[in-house]
Amino acid sequence: MIRKILVTSALPYANGAIHLGHLVEHVQTDIWVRFQKMNGHECYYVCADDTHGTPVMLRAQSEGITPEELIARVHQEHLRDFTGFNVEYDNYHSTHSEENRILSSEVFVKLREAGLIERNTIEQYYDVSKDMFLADRFIKGQCPRCGAADQYGDGCEVCGATYSPTDLIQPISALSGTVPVRRLSEHYFFKLGDCTEFLQHWTRSGTLQREAANKLDEWFKVGLQNWDISRDAPYFGFEIPDAPGKYFYVWLDAPIGYMASFANFAKKKHLDFDAWWGAGSETELYHFIGKDILYFHALFWPAMLHGAGYRTPNGVFVHGFLTVNGAKMSKSRGTFITAQSYLESGMNPEWLRYYLASKLNGSMEDIDLNLSDFIARVNSDLIGKYVNIASRTAGFIQQRFAGKLAVQCPDHALLTTTQQAADSIANGYTTLDYGRALREIMALADLANQYVNEHKPWDIAKQAGRDAELHDVCSVAINLFRLLTLYLKPVLPHLARDAERFLNIAPLQWPDAQHLLSDHTVNIYQHLMARVDTRQVDKMLDANAAPATAAPEPVATPPTKKTVPPAETMQSDTINVDDFAKIDLRIARILNAEHVEGADKLIRLTLDIGEATPRNVFAGIKSAYDPTRLIGRLTVMVANLAPRKMKFGLSEGMVLAASGDAPGLFLLAPDEGAQPGMRVK
Ligand code: MSP
Ligand code: ZN
Repeated sequence: MIRKILVTSALPYANGAIHLGHLVEHVQTDIWVRFQKMNGHECYYVCADDTHGTPVMLRAQSEGITPEELIARVHQEHLRDFTGFNVEYDNYHSTHSEENRILSSEVFVKLREAGLIERNTIEQYYDVSKDMFLADRFIKGQCPRCGAADQYGDGCEVCGATYSPTDLIQPISALSGTVPVRRLSEHYFFKLGDCTEFLQHWTRSGTLQREAANKLDEWFKVGLQNWDISRDAPYFGFEIPDAPGKYFYVWLDAPIGYMASFANFAKKKHLDFDAWWGAGSETELYHFIGKDILYFHALFWPAMLHGAGYRTPNGVFVHGFLTVNGAKMSKSRGTFITAQSYLESGMNPEWLRYYLASKLNGSMEDIDLNLSDFIARVNSDLIGKYVNIASRTAGFIQQRFAGKLAVQCPDHALLTTTQQAADSIANGYTTLDYGRALREIMALADLANQYVNEHKPWDIAKQAGRDAELHDVCSVAINLFRLLTLYLKPVLPHLARDAERFLNIAPLQWPDAQHLLSDHTVNIYQHLMARVDTRQVDKMLDANAAPATAAPEPVATPPTKKTVPPAETMQSDTINVDDFAKIDLRIARILNAEHVEGADKLIRLTLDIGEATPRNVFAGIKSAYDPTRLIGRLTVMVANLAPRKMKFGLSEGMVLAASGDAPGLFLLAPDEGAQPGMRVK
């Protein structure tokens, strides 16, 4: 029976580069999809960039471009990177698309009609200087529980407490450094709580791995909270129908992006959208995701689909996180490896596909990329075992038999064994236990090499009158090689394509395992794959450590955090020298300092930084300094901070002061001899 299957990978954020962690997921999905296609199923793989939200908006601002320009550039970078790893989508779209705008509104309106949307007024921090509400991760302050300084609005990284930003002591806006005010705003909520019964049923209907279902049980126990799906302007996203100035939270329209990408594809291919997404659809739908976004895909998403009258997913496949050399990927250790740096180091993308596949087993456990193990595994399995079978025997077929395989493929037990393994290997792919599938394939490759070793074609070739034997041995070996190529093809599509070229055969399909090649002419064998060279790996690590070539990193544009409850995160990673060089730090002389009428924290500073006109800066240092004592002093200022309009006037920069857990604020000052206008580097 031909199945109709729609498959997705999670939509990568448009505010960062593709890294090897993303590749775990897209390679995992791609292998599964390729396997389904080789079995003749009508299977489509769609994805898109996840383009909305505050981080994208801020990143575009910091680059001085529009969000549309940013996401257009990133779209082509993402697609280039994934394609570079031979990931083959049927469609790679964008959540900032007309299809998604229409579908998001439609889903929302249907949910509203079903009584699943409610409005509530909530109080949030507001950054007056930036004219915007602050997401939890854009507010910093002192932890209300342990007192640690510099903690984000949603939780403390020191003591692990979770709280709401209004609990923070001395909150400041991470965007502007100003003190935020509390403001009321009306928000739209999706009544997830009302969907509890449906979700309890859905999550136990074979849609999830056991570990994932257990995780959900914990959430059910706590009780499902209604979900805030709106954000106030300014926000890069879609405006909510009948709610001017209110936008869909990025996580509302992101999964609808799966539908939108399919809708875009369906139009091009003349497929019936409703047959795939309508309630009662007989097609299958699977999502591949990482464990950090389970909440969204196993609760919000099926509840939204069900509530709005669409079909629900048949399965959500959850994978763990990629670690490198046993530790979380880290920019400072150079192990935050971008897809681009891997490819630019001259490494074969299929080495990584193979290595990742060998580690994937369908569980939610983390996967470690151990670089020395990577080199050893690829060289031993792919070159030492698989490629070796052809490279040791193809020459004889060419030179002694004009490229022709034996008229009748010899009946050998190993051929039968290898053919019979098709079902078990297929089962490995189907159940996402790629590691087992590859172990079985490599065990067969071992047997094939053993066969060649035992029959020693290089010896037979030297002896007169043993041509038929030589022909048989090499024909068996080439047939074994063909079967192994077929089994490896979902993982190594380009290597398989080259092998098919050598074998001079049509693209292999899974059922082709049931027959053998005989009386067939193959092409001249060309070496199929090089060994991994340690120097390439070093080059890749250098590229991620060396600031100049590292991928651009977000400046003040943290990615959206995906733990529960959903919130936005700021990465506390390193910046590179170029990032640092963007900050124009100057020595400034304080020409004047005075109190500001009506401001209880600010002092107005007039600063000479060697320019024709002095700068006006409002500094929040009133608690620590008497203005008259400041006049004449030298300090350090950020001269290229975008000017900020404040209630009291324009602030044209920022002076630097230290503060910590202990009380006090300490203005920085240079050593003797420094002159106003000097650069701080
Ligand atoms: N934009 C959201 C997904 C929206 S889906 C409707 C998002 N983007 S992401 O770029 O942060 O992550 C995309 C996928 O990559 C997620 O499934 C995430 O789990 C996965 N990974 C990100 N880092 C990863 C690792 N280090 N290891 C493995 N997968 C990781 O979440
Ligand atoms: Zn704390």
